[in-house]
Amino acid sequence: MEILIRDTPDEVAVTAADIVATYVRRGAVLGLATGSTPVATYQELIRRHREEGLSFAGCTAYLLDEYIGLSPEHEQSYYRFIRDEFTAHIDIDDAVVHSPDGLNPKPWLAAEKYDAAIRESGGISVQILGIGTNGHIGFNEPASPLKARTRVETLHAQTVSDNSRFFDSIEEVPTHALTQGLGTILDCEQPLLLATGFGKADAIAAMVEGPLSASCPASALQMHDRTTLVIDADAASGLVRTDYYRHVEESRPAWSAVDGRPVEA
Ligand code: PGA
Repeated sequence: MEILIRDTPDEVAVTAADIVATYVRRGAVLGLATGSTPVATYQELIRRHREEGLSFAGCTAYLLDEYIGLSPEHEQSYYRFIRDEFTAHIDIDDAVVHSPDGLNPKPWLAAEKYDAAIRESGGISVQILGIGTNGHIGFNEPASPLKARTRVETLHAQTVSDNSRFFDSIEEVPTHALTQGLGTILDCEQPLLLATGFGKADAIAAMVEGPLSASCPASALQMHDRTTLVIDADAASGLVRTDYYRHVEESRPAWSAVDGRPVEA
């Protein structure tokens, strides 16, 4: 794994935007995450669109997950969130911003359909990811199957509690979600996991330096040959080999990959 440690959340957003922009310029299929962590990266990409002419016109987007039971109009649906926070502010065609259908009365069929749509699009290029305090990615909670496709997941009590800050009461947080499975996520070209703050330190330590285990779903990214983490010093504070990860970045040879692309690209 490539582990890029930055001093502040703002610097995390700049580095993450640098990587995502390389894919945007080639009109790629973007994998988008919701949650609070990627918002600063989205703001930096919106700024580059407005001030530097970064165009998303050739891009397509797939969200990681969606709550079951929330309509697209619900202000906490991820359909709504990604438009409010990102895609309504750039020049991507709204019709190609896809998310799982959380209102389908047969959610397992919605999951299959979504997974097939991702495959038919040619697959996700860069997949932006946050990480839950319990190590989840997407809504793949501990004990998730490591090879699963898009599927229905029951939210862990910790996730319901973490996400209740966005709802009027904890009772309003949906109990189930549709999520890209770990196998779906591992099919992407480059997983790009972002984390900031001390609250994520234990989860980051478990995913990077713990065993590959369904108990920490993010550890599945150890199996991908292009996983990149961009994390701030607080989120990195539980890691043992921080000096080595910084050394790897500082001593990267000129012929090695830079910001997610080979130097000759
Ligand atoms: P957060 O959520 O970015 O709001 O902390 C991350 C996640 O639960 O995946």
